Amino acid sequence: MLHDLLLQLTVVLIQAVGALWLAIPALIANPSAVIFGGGTPIDFGRKFYDGKRILGDGKTWKGLIGGGAAGAFIGVIQQLIALNIGSPYFPPFSGDAVTAVLIVTILGYGALIGDAAGSFIKRRLGMGRGDRAFLLDQLTFLVVALLFVFFAFPFLFFTYFWNVPALITLFVLTPILHRIVNIIGYRMGKKDVPW
Ligand code: CTP
Ligand code: MG
Repeated sequence: MLHDLLLQLTVVLIQAVGALWLAIPALIANPSAVIFGGGTPIDFGRKFYDGKRILGDGKTWKGLIGGGAAGAFIGVIQQLIALNIGSPYFPPFSGDAVTAVLIVTILGYGALIGDAAGSFIKRRLGMGRGDRAFLLDQLTFLVVALLFVFFAFPFLFFTYFWNVPALITLFVLTPILHRIVNIIGYRMGKKDVPW
């Protein structure tokens, strides 16, 4: 009995920690965009049919390219760590090096494309750059990064992300982490607002 319970708890823990571990490239990409960002906006200053900016000045090419690369870079380091320690809590992205690089790249850039999609929605709702959009700001990037994994690497998606402990952990912790990192960014003078 007790043994069964402990075993089940271990499985839940492995699912929760494993998903968080594999989502790190996406979680890193967003704050990295703040560090690398600035300069030419992705929408080149253009407006949408509604007369409002397509994405706004908060989404720049440097942030997109640099942030995505930073997420992927951390993912490559994780891959090396995972292969070395061989722990079920910290799985590698793939057994194959090239596939692993593709996966971490998809996670990093998926997150920032999702982040830009969130801004697109905010602009359509008439919200200005930096206006606070609860959940949209904190979760769009994660949902889109996971969607990318679902389409490109369904096996990885169903193995590690599509289970209750994984989803609960990611969707509860991501907004909290997002908030903490943004407060730090604000204190460091990297962000104008603490959200
Ligand atoms: N950033 C960037 N390029 C990106 C994403 C972010 O340069 N692709 C930088 C911008 O300096 C941005 C900051 O990171 O202001 C914070 O990102 P975020 O909070 O996502 O943007 P906001 O300025 O709040 O704009 P929005 O309302 O469109 O979300
Ligand atoms: Mg913001």
